[in-house]
Amino acid sequence: MKAVRIHEYGAPDVLVYEDAPRPEPRDDEVLIRVHAAGVNPADWQIRSGKRFVLDEPFSLTMGFDVSGIAEAVGSDVDHFQVGDSVYGMLGLGGGGGAYAEYVAAPAVDLAHRPRSLDHVHAAAMPVVALTAWQALFDAGELSAGQTALIHAAAGGVGHIAVQLAKWKGARVIGTASARNEGFLRELGCDEVVDYKTTRFEDVVRDVDVVLDSIVRDADAAIDTVAGETMERSWSVLKRGGILVSVCAKPSAETAATHSVRGKYVLAQRNAAQLGEIAKLVDAGRLEPTIAAVLPLSEARRAHELSERGHTRGKIVLWVAQ
Ligand SMILES: NC(=O)c1ccc[n+]([C@@H]2O[C@H](COP(=O)([O-])OP(=O)(O)OC[C@H]3O[C@@H](n4cnc5c(N)ncnc54)[C@H](OP(=O)(O)O)[C@@H]3O)[C@@H](O)[C@H]2O)c1
Repeated sequence: MKAVRIHEYGAPDVLVYEDAPRPEPRDDEVLIRVHAAGVNPADWQIRSGKRFVLDEPFSLTMGFDVSGIAEAVGSDVDHFQVGDSVYGMLGLGGGGGAYAEYVAAPAVDLAHRPRSLDHVHAAAMPVVALTAWQALFDAGELSAGQTALIHAAAGGVGHIAVQLAKWKGARVIGTASARNEGFLRELGCDEVVDYKTTRFEDVVRDVDVVLDSIVRDADAAIDTVAGETMERSWSVLKRGGILVSVCAKPSAETAATHSVRGKYVLAQRNAAQLGEIAKLVDAGRLEPTIAAVLPLSEARRAHELSERGHTRGKIVLWVAQ
């Protein structure tokens, strides 16, 4: 099969489109004929070798977001059949594995693809939707009538978080550059703060949950801005509020001085939540926005685009019809 693999850490040109062995599903796994693979900052953060170094031997096949068709199912799998449409988030082992024509994944991590989404849109969802869900609802315990401030609201995590928070009945404020204001209003944002012209802490207060998902490591300047944004976010929280970051561990001491809490969330695979997310999608409450679709063979270009740190919604690799 064709796959995009890395044999060393480095710049986008370490991504190699090449022949690779087709995986064999274990008894508890589904072999997926991949139709589309979502691109996430984690992919290039791993590829670069700068932010995460996996305890895995090369070669690594990148990609944590998959949508495709069950080609074969292991003998212990009873809730999927050959021919089922599935989507899911893959584990870190081997680097993910979705940038390939086939990937084997534990059935317990997969869910049925939302009926109303094609593979490209379905592959845009798992990582960002699980991240937003777990950050807002599991960690942040966001509830109806509360106020959420969502940083980087136009990004992969952010644009799904805005929709989930609105579905929950919260008032939503998003930060983004001016070009994304209309986009965020359409998604349901009650207020949009242009981070290039306005200091959000001058205009926002009494927030229950801050979600920090400002992309790190795109370049040194963005890294610094992201760190500062987290520090400036403490003052907008009401007493007892919570800052949830999916990018960096908030300081417990700083949180305590503001009488608020801070939590770091690392998204976990969760098929039950993917099932809930699929229901919301099919009910018209949640929809991914696609910034670009590129063929698998152009994974390098997809990484270059993502690394700029200004994706609106998601970049997806198209693998098969
Ligand atoms: N812990 C976890 O499990 C987990 C899971 C998923 C993602 N993450 C992390 O979360 C971060 C975001 O991921 P993503 O997929 O959402 O990234 P992304 O889609 O690449 O984010 C791009 C967005 O960031 C916005 N942005 C950049 N600088 C900003 C600033 N200073 N203020 C406000 N918005 C800004 C851009 O908006 P403009 O174009 O308007 O500037 C753009 O829409 C990454 O660092 C990723 O590694 C962590």
